[in-house]
Amino acid sequence: EAYFSEKRDFSGKKVLVTAGATRERIDDVRYLTNRSTGKMGYAVAAAAARRGAEVTLVSGITGLPAPKGVNRITAESAEDMFQEVTRRFDEMDLVVKAAAVADYTPASPMVGKMKKGGDFALELVRTKDILAELGARKERQVLVGFAAESAELERYARDKLRRKNLDLIAANDISRQDIGFASDENCLHLYFADGRSVQIEKCEKEQAAERLLDYAAELLEQKGR
Ligand code: CTP
Ligand code: CA
Repeated sequence: EAYFSEKRDFSGKKVLVTAGATRERIDDVRYLTNRSTGKMGYAVAAAAARRGAEVTLVSGITGLPAPKGVNRITAESAEDMFQEVTRRFDEMDLVVKAAAVADYTPASPMVGKMKKGGDFALELVRTKDILAELGARKERQVLVGFAAESAELERYARDKLRRKNLDLIAANDISRQDIGFASDENCLHLYFADGRSVQIEKCEKEQAAERLLDYAAELLEQKGR
């Protein structure tokens, strides 16, 4: 299709992308998850590979095929994803964290299949924030986060950008029904560490991914990578 970039501007670059929802185990047959399908992150991974990058995709369980030329690693839970991402971070030029990582996980997952009884409360504990960890460890990498917001998008997105020491954040307005989760289209609000902001108008996720990588390429160049 016409909108696929013919550029090879990522050749020689190492790119790590995360995608999809994590699953947090309750017992051996049940888990907590969210509505993310992984499409946006897979589109970024595929586009970066087409543009010449060496791409590692750390993905939740999605049912999507691995994009051509991409090294896919499956990470089921937030903890798995934390391990797989952090141990590869130092060698990367660019990290794009599109995954919808669970914020909470069951405190003590049960072995086997839990038997029903009376009502009970499931105790949840906080997961590690992968992106915040990368931001704290960042040296010359370009770090791109995503944000899913249902209100006050700009304020929350800019807050995450600053708190997690990102170079760029791509915010999704999840109050819109026509885009986002499970949709083939998306609209992204981009906020940069230098204060700039731009909008990627509603378009196919493949095209949004190309545009996002155009901005990431500029940031890589600014850092001399
Ligand atoms: N993220 C992460 N590790 C977590 C939670 C989130 O790496 N444990 C990353 C996501 O991959 C995303 C970014 O942080 O790139 C923002 O995720 P989001 O859920 O929008 O923000 P949170 O910081 O989790 O804050 P909240 O859910 O309270 O809005
Ligand atoms: Ca969250």
